[in-house]
Amino acid sequence: MNETNASLVERETKLEMGVYKKRDIALSRGEGSIVWDVEGKRYIDFTSGIGVAILGHNHPGLKQALAEQASKMITCNEAFANGERTRLLESLESRWRSASGKSGKIFLCNSGTEANEAAIKLARAKTGRKALVAAMNGFHGRTAGSLALTFKLKYRERFEPLIGPITRIRMNDIEGLRNAVTEETAAVFLEVIQGEGGIRPADVAFLSAAREICSQKGTLLVFDEVQAGMGRTGKFFSFENVGVYPDVVTLAKGLGGGVPIGAAIANEEFCVFKNLEHGSTFGGNPFACAAANATIKAIEDEKLLERADENGLWLSQKLQQMMTRKPSIVQVRGKGLFIGLELKVESTPIVKAAQAKGLLILTAGDTTLRMLPPLNTTREVYEEALGILESVLP
Ligand SMILES: Cc1ncc(COP(=O)(O)O)c(C=O)c1O
Repeated sequence: MNETNASLVERETKLEMGVYKKRDIALSRGEGSIVWDVEGKRYIDFTSGIGVAILGHNHPGLKQALAEQASKMITCNEAFANGERTRLLESLESRWRSASGKSGKIFLCNSGTEANEAAIKLARAKTGRKALVAAMNGFHGRTAGSLALTFKLKYRERFEPLIGPITRIRMNDIEGLRNAVTEETAAVFLEVIQGEGGIRPADVAFLSAAREICSQKGTLLVFDEVQAGMGRTGKFFSFENVGVYPDVVTLAKGLGGGVPIGAAIANEEFCVFKNLEHGSTFGGNPFACAAANATIKAIEDEKLLERADENGLWLSQKLQQMMTRKPSIVQVRGKGLFIGLELKVESTPIVKAAQAKGLLILTAGDTTLRMLPPLNTTREVYEEALGILESVLP
């Protein structure tokens, strides 16, 4: 059958439920930070499957781990222990303990929204309270609990009533947060750097106040690091950059280097789930755990935290310099390789123009460009990407 960009896009569009805004190309393979469409055109991939492919594509260590695990065992639910899962739990717990100083417990699942659902249920079970607080412009997922926390009305309005009550506060509004958190509040959900909301880092003072307010009120502080975690900001957990420690952190996206896996990690003292009160059929499956172990190994072996930090700094300096030549850039935001460019013009036409010239990037709102390069992208590729970006920005 004819497999052109247009034919594959058309066949998928015909059968999917229409929830994804599709581009006009079909990707067939990738190598590092480069991908090719089915007609052989080459692109630099700074979308990384929306922040997922932190090792780039076709990573040898990840590929080998998956091949080996596939030949041993793909599935075995959590009623049975499995070495890959054991090692992943130990590795995540030790990172959590060295970052937060507390011992942790982990729930493994398959996506970001599912990790946040676990955190919501955990907070309600621990506190016996119902109310939740979240930030305006926050994004936490699309299943009923996480969706209730997600800010944009267009994602929520046709599905109400969702769980609640939810109070939405302005990010960085300390007084607003103080007023919102009461003896009825089970948890405060925050992104240390808002992703979908436009790559907006929270102020350290606000995050510290959130810590203090939550501790005072017996409310759980949950940091959603589904997009910012796994080294994207130069630290394994992005909260390590600001020195404010949550009670629960949620991870997904980069955790499996492309294989679906999510995790909620919580201080041991908050883990009050009873047998079968929560669960997930695919959670902690050995194939996904092997992917996560190989991804974490590559982060260590290839010094990807250090590289994300260094390259992020270098890239943001280059973008600041570009700002002096390109009047359409209003601001460069982010941390490490979690990069946003606020524009004076609409972001979608720029994304399209960049794609036509061989650079895949994302939007994060109507006027924000978002770049989520693989953490092992080389300077040569960054230089090429910067050249393309400069050529398409007014
Ligand atoms: C901060 C944040 N939380 C949660 C989610 C939802 O993750 P998933 O799409 O894996 O359910 C996302 C997805 O973009 C996200 O960026």
